[in-house]
Amino acid sequence: MGPSNPRDWNAPRLRAQILKWYDANQRDLPWRQNKDPYSIWVSEIMLQQTRVAVVIDRHRQFLERFPTVASLARAAEQDVLALWSGLGYYRRARMLHKAAIFVAENFKGELPSGSAELRKLPGVGAYTAAAIASIAHNERIAVVDGNVERVVCRLAGWEATPETSAAALRRQIEALANQLVDPRRPGDFNQAMMELGATVCLPRNPQCLVCPIASHCATRGEHKTTPRARMLSREIAHALCVRTRRNQPEVLLEQRSASVTVMPGMWELPALTNEVVPDEHLRMAVRHAIMQVNYYVRIRSVLEDEVLTLAGPDSGNRRWVRLDELAALPLTGLARKVLTRAHLLKPPTSHDRRKTAATLL
Ligand code: ADE
Repeated sequence: MGPSNPRDWNAPRLRAQILKWYDANQRDLPWRQNKDPYSIWVSEIMLQQTRVAVVIDRHRQFLERFPTVASLARAAEQDVLALWSGLGYYRRARMLHKAAIFVAENFKGELPSGSAELRKLPGVGAYTAAAIASIAHNERIAVVDGNVERVVCRLAGWEATPETSAAALRRQIEALANQLVDPRRPGDFNQAMMELGATVCLPRNPQCLVCPIASHCATRGEHKTTPRARMLSREIAHALCVRTRRNQPEVLLEQRSASVTVMPGMWELPALTNEVVPDEHLRMAVRHAIMQVNYYVRIRSVLEDEVLTLAGPDSGNRRWVRLDELAALPLTGLARKVLTRAHLLKPPTSHDRRKTAATLL
């Protein structure tokens, strides 16, 4: 059993072991090819809720289109959202854009280097600030994401109990993570911890036999976690309505109101108020997960001359959109999924495809 008292850690040995492992096993990821703080920032924001395999392509596309903070600051929000389409959690893209404008206006387009200054930017919390400062500027500060939390809890033999508040446990984890960070290679150490959590110290089947720091570990894999929140189910329906004008197919889309909290201003298929769709009108049925909710979505085919009869909460904001305009619009993930399945939109790149292969009911 390893020690749970932080003073007993053989930190130099642990650092040497995990860094040796990282040097030999780290994944070759585009944002690791240089220390550009902007590139690291974009990658860390994308990685917060999206898998590495998906982020690889999307990060490249984003940096091709917006190679610098200044170019992102100059962009229209709708263009930033369009590039983010399908990644979900669109607030991340809005905040990234806002922060770029802030940096362009207040720091001449140069991101501040210290984690304390970085935290003052819109949408940059403790995690992102520590990641940028440690990876790009060698600041000695721990990055604690969900993977690192699990690694540290297992190492120390800690678990959430009814007596410890989640906040107190989190403070303990951050204190130990900060104590362990390698002062000479903080960025690599942090990435090694995240990488270990993502590839070895897995939530359900930790690979302790290949773990470089197993000798320090209090639990060797046993680690009780609080159960995940159960997914809720909801049934909804949307309309798929296509027409041809001047030999060009067009699809009817609806812009979400700017004042809603979820995906404001984004474009989706017209929402229907009645989720019951008779079989003869059912074009496809799709499951789409957004945060804690599984949406069971029925897509109804609607002819052009029936459009006016379609009631829906946002019917005032509908527009016929040519297929060649779709890529430039901030589509919701669901709209993207349905339009792709209906062969109205080009499928995403190979990396994205695995993620979006959701169940066709
Ligand atoms: N997860 C989020 N950011 C990461 C990084 N920089 N390295 C490894 N895993 C990560």
